[in-house]
Amino acid sequence: MLGGVGSGMTMRPQVVAHRGASHDTAEHTLGAYVKALDQGAEALECDVRLTADGHLVCVHDRDLLRTASTRGLVSTMELAELDQLDFASWKNPWADLDDEAQDLDLELGRVLTLRKLLEVVADYDRSVELAIETKHPTRYAGLVERRLAEALAAFGWDGAGAPVRVMSFSYTALQRMRRLAPGVPLVMLIDKKRHWAALQPVVGDDWILGPGIDLLRDTPVFAQRLAATGRDIHVWTVNTEADLDVCLRYGVKAVITDRPGMILGLLDDR
Ligand code: G3P
Ligand code: CA
Repeated sequence: MLGGVGSGMTMRPQVVAHRGASHDTAEHTLGAYVKALDQGAEALECDVRLTADGHLVCVHDRDLLRTASTRGLVSTMELAELDQLDFASWKNPWADLDDEAQDLDLELGRVLTLRKLLEVVADYDRSVELAIETKHPTRYAGLVERRLAEALAAFGWDGAGAPVRVMSFSYTALQRMRRLAPGVPLVMLIDKKRHWAALQPVVGDDWILGPGIDLLRDTPVFAQRLAATGRDIHVWTVNTEADLDVCLRYGVKAVITDRPGMILGLLDDR
């Protein structure tokens, strides 16, 4: 199932952990995803980038300074080099942790490959979905999408009914994914009203729309226009009760949040 949980009057949005439980834990680390699952997240969001030797890794930024405290680009380093880096301690300084927590941080804070994250989803003891965002894919002439389709195929998840969906701000990337993995749901991310104006005539009939919460919250006429398309809407990044209320008002099918535990708690109280 992709999107809302429940049916009829009880329909509520699916809660998707943005980069894992990234409010509490260093984003895109195994630790962040384990925490999100512990908190009850129903789906996980990740960004993927290509390494110099062609692996897809879960990293948001093009460069490594913010999350690995190192100068350099993900795209110019091989996986083995990235594997030497520490993607965790920028968030939770080691000085604040005891020895056991430091060891765990080291183990769970290495660069995370998409393949490993797919294994986590496949092996988890309840059903979980994965929303994979391709970052700046047009630079690589389709290689990101080919690698992604291969990774999904390795799990048998390149057709309809798979617990995955692919998101992008790039229309070209989503078109490629549709050719490479025809059954996989697609989410067209939207970050500006103008962006949607250009996309509206061309996006596929079954594509999901993925606006930022600011578009729904701050431009109600535009929000109404998106809702009136009748398409499923998945919204990022929903971290407050007020923003959750906006999403509920528009009947969105999934909320992507840094704080899955908090958002699930709010939904349970409704
Ligand atoms: O879920 C979509 C959202 O993650 C897009 O923005 O910058 O957090 O990848 P960003
Ligand atoms: Ca993202």
